Amino acid sequence: MNKISSIQAFEVLDSRGRPTVEAHLTLSSGLSASAQVPSGASTGASEAHELRDGDPQRYNGLGVRKACHNIETILAPALEGKSVFDQATIDQLMIDLDGTPNKSRLGANAILAISCATARAAAHSRKVPLWSHLAGNRKAVLPLPMVNILSGGLHAARAMEFQDFLAIPHAAGSFAEAMEWITKIHRKTRELLEEKGAYFTGVADEGGWGPRLATNEQALAILTEAIEKSGLAPGSQVSIALDVAASHFFAGGEYALRSEGRSMPARDFIDLLAGWCRKYPVVSIEDGLEQNAWSEWPELTHRLGEHAQIIGDDFLTTNPERLQRAIASKAANAVLVKMNQIGTLTETFAVIDKARASNWRAVISARSGETEDTFLTDLAIASGMAQLKVGSITRSERLAKYNRVLVLEQTTSLPHWSAASDRLPPIWRS
Ligand code: PGA
Ligand code: ZN
Repeated sequence: MNKISSIQAFEVLDSRGRPTVEAHLTLSSGLSASAQVPSGASTGASEAHELRDGDPQRYNGLGVRKACHNIETILAPALEGKSVFDQATIDQLMIDLDGTPNKSRLGANAILAISCATARAAAHSRKVPLWSHLAGNRKAVLPLPMVNILSGGLHAARAMEFQDFLAIPHAAGSFAEAMEWITKIHRKTRELLEEKGAYFTGVADEGGWGPRLATNEQALAILTEAIEKSGLAPGSQVSIALDVAASHFFAGGEYALRSEGRSMPARDFIDLLAGWCRKYPVVSIEDGLEQNAWSEWPELTHRLGEHAQIIGDDFLTTNPERLQRAIASKAANAVLVKMNQIGTLTETFAVIDKARASNWRAVISARSGETEDTFLTDLAIASGMAQLKVGSITRSERLAKYNRVLVLEQTTSLPHWSAASDRLPPIWRS
């Protein structure tokens, strides 16, 4: 009854208007489930391969008809008759059918769409919410959001080099209160930008403001001021996270802050970040160094890791081997988890569970190209890791995820992030 009877694939569009994959699974019971996959822009070099058609006549080569075709002609025939309760078997079968180390033959986009639809079909069959099905023995909690307020880098036409300036409302008593604080800070930030005459460009790819400012540091100062002017205490109620996304402005062995007309080696760049952590309430730094700087990440973590969460995104790419190496060399203390960086749910949970077992933190994250699919919310809750990074609050592909948490907070007895406070840095614990 819970066996897959057919799988269909569709080319649909993501939040940047680029094609992405949707898979529909139908079971012998007649139940069906679907899932859409996201897509990054500031991608890490060791991510699983997103298969694109390369036909310049359609979507500048970004079509995903080949990935859809692979689902219907290669993956579907192999999976028909398999039980959706065997997630690990299904994922492994797809990995084997692909046969490459980075899923480049069939496409991680094709594989992940089926992997997620399988979990959803299993949850439907068991008549339980997706988060509950995914959680298994893990302790499910509502996550603390890390919300993008100002954007730069590849998500905002490189007006600034740093990619995300985010607010973490860690002292909020509920998810609903956290989101209310965030909307105030987002609005106040816009007012401050206008007051300061910053060139106003609408919102960036994840819904944050993408202004042209004199320096990257000015964004940090404005965000700190916006928190204060929203009647909240920077540091004790709301802190700041940075996604530096440093790989994307690393050139010629240096971190090149072109908008500021300066460039510096890793040592000076770490000093710059350390100075900001002293001056502003920065408690989380993602991709503070570029993705191949294995010998310098331990220094960054040694210098700042006691007070700040040091997250690897492009650096670790949700990859169990890279995570293992980083744990062994103390290169960071947290991992960003993006399902499509690795391509199956089973491997994603392997990374989450490895982080937990190693006393690392994990932040469950969206991509800059998203869809209305809310799978990520359930993954974040199920992970028990207590942190969610989805982007800002002015684009519906982001709000779909936040809104699901808001409703679950009111309709379930799921505890909030403080119930998993051992997963959070000490200074965020209320
Ligand atoms: P991406 O950005 O989805 O474009 O990679 C998100 C991030 O860097 O965290
Ligand atoms: Zn990132």
